[in-house]
Amino acid sequence: MENRKPADIDASEITDKRVYLNRRLFMRGAALAATTAATGLLYRKLNPQPVETTKREELAGFAKPTSDGFRANEKLTPLADITNYNNFYEFSTDKGAVASESKGFVTKPWTVSVEGLVNKPRSFDLNKLLSFPLEERVYRLRCVEGWSMVIPWIGFPLAKLLEEVEPTEQAKYVAFQTLYDPKRMPNQRTGVLDWPYVEGLRLDEAMHPLTILATGLYGEVLPPQDGAPIRLVVPWKYGFKSIKSIVKIQLVAEEPPTTWNIQASNEYGFYSNVNPEVSHPRWSQATERRIGEFRMRETLMFNGYSEQVAHLYQGMDLEQYF
Ligand code: MTE
Repeated sequence: MENRKPADIDASEITDKRVYLNRRLFMRGAALAATTAATGLLYRKLNPQPVETTKREELAGFAKPTSDGFRANEKLTPLADITNYNNFYEFSTDKGAVASESKGFVTKPWTVSVEGLVNKPRSFDLNKLLSFPLEERVYRLRCVEGWSMVIPWIGFPLAKLLEEVEPTEQAKYVAFQTLYDPKRMPNQRTGVLDWPYVEGLRLDEAMHPLTILATGLYGEVLPPQDGAPIRLVVPWKYGFKSIKSIVKIQLVAEEPPTTWNIQASNEYGFYSNVNPEVSHPRWSQATERRIGEFRMRETLMFNGYSEQVAHLYQGMDLEQYF
C-alpha cells in the first residue's frame, strides 16, 4: 500500500505541526494588525474573510472534541502525507504519483453549476464560492481501503450552497460530477473508470452540518491532488464519497448513479457509511491504519460520528443499505 516516492515530495510541502501552528498564529497576528501582507500560499490572500482556526491546545489534544463533531481532537496527519498519498484516478491510480501528475492542474476559471429540481438554478464562479463563510473543520477521513487520516479542512457547509438555489419538494437526492477534460486530467484517456466520476447523497445527508465543500486544507488553498479547487467531504462515509474537482451539482428525485457502485455494485453501495460491522466482500472493515502509525486502530461506527448522524439511518438495515 505504501508507494510514496520521497523524491516527489516538494520540500515546501513538508509542514510539520509546529510550523503550521506558527503560521496560524502569524495569520491571527496579521489579522489583528489589519495587514494584508502575507506569503504566497496563504489562504487569507484569496479569502477576504478570516477563517476561524483551531486553537493551539485543541490541536495538541488537550481540549475535548466538540460535540458537533466539527473538530476531532486527534493528532493531525502531516501535510506531506495528505498531499502525497492520494486517490484521484483522473491523474493516476498510483497513490504516490497523483501529486506529480496533477502538478499545474489549471483551476481558473472554474464554475460549479447547481441545477435540477431547484427554484433558482445557478452557476457559481469559484470566487463567489470562496465568499461563503469559510470554517476550519478537523475531520477523520477513512478510506475504504483501510487507511485513515486526520485533516484540517477549510470549507463551508454544502447546505449553504443548496439553500441559495432552493431545492423543490421533489428533490430527494443530490448528484455530483467531477470535471471531464482528458487534456487536463490525462488518466481520463484510459478506461480505468467510467468518466466523469460521479457521486451522490440523500438530500438530508447533503444538508447535514458535517457535510462540507472544502476549498482548502492546512490553512492553504486546496492542492490539485486533494481535489482543487473544490471537493466534497462527508466524514462519516468512506473516502470515495468525497468527490473531487466538482463542476456540477444536480438535485434529483431518484438515487443517482455513483462511480464505484457502477464499477462493482456488490462491493460499493450507495450509502457507504463507515461501518466496522459490515465487511467489504474481500476484506474486513473492522480496523484501519492511521497514516503515519504502525499499530492498527479499531474502526468506529460512522467513523466516530454516530452521535451526529446515526439518526439519519434509524430503522434501516445497514447490511442491505451498505
Ligand atoms: N474524486 C475523484 N474525482 N476521483 C477519484 O479518484 N477518489 C476518492 C475520493 N474522491 C476520487 C475522488 C477516494 S477512493 C478517496 S479515498 C478520496 O477521494 C481520497 O481523498 P484524498 O486523496 O484527498 O485523501
